[in-house]
Amino acid sequence: MAKTKMVIIAVVGVILIMQLIPVNQINPPVVQRADLPAEVKTILVESCFDCHSNETKWPWYSRIAPGSFLITHDVIEGREHLNFSDFSNLNAFDSTDIAEEIIEVLDEGEMPILPYLLLHPDASLSDSETRVLKDWAKSLFPE
Ligand code: HEC
Repeated sequence: MAKTKMVIIAVVGVILIMQLIPVNQINPPVVQRADLPAEVKTILVESCFDCHSNETKWPWYSRIAPGSFLITHDVIEGREHLNFSDFSNLNAFDSTDIAEEIIEVLDEGEMPILPYLLLHPDASLSDSETRVLKDWAKSLFPE
């Protein structure tokens, strides 16, 4: 019995100490917002902006370790791949590249990633929302 108690105290202690490890949950300034049609923007804000913009909403549970480590990692990696708050210096090649990747993840149903959907069921894309995003992505291809 005393042993169980020690184990519980140790586990709680480790979890408490984890809370002291700093995580980089900051929203850097918006460099240049992507120029988005209103309908597209609504969908992206609801389903994608938390990981693909500098306007991430960090809910209370995102601050609690060890989950905070995973969430922060996804946001930082997501921003590196695609950041709707930094569309500066996009040339025709870059926008084609982004458009292709967006169409690809939509076709494969890869985004938003599953753990996020479990916490944000409203972020799941309906067929019509997917169609709106794909049509917009296609419009990014240069004429
Ligand atoms: C919970 C965070 C999260 C959300 C929400 C999210 N993504 Fe991502 N996204 C990521 C991460 C992490 C990566 C990089 C790793 C990977 O490709 O799985 C990524 C990668 C991507 C890429 C690049 C894929 C590649 O092959 O390089 C595209 C495009 C993308 N996401 C589009 C979207 C779109 C569109 C939405 C909304 C419908 C969305 N994402 C929602 C986290 C997220």
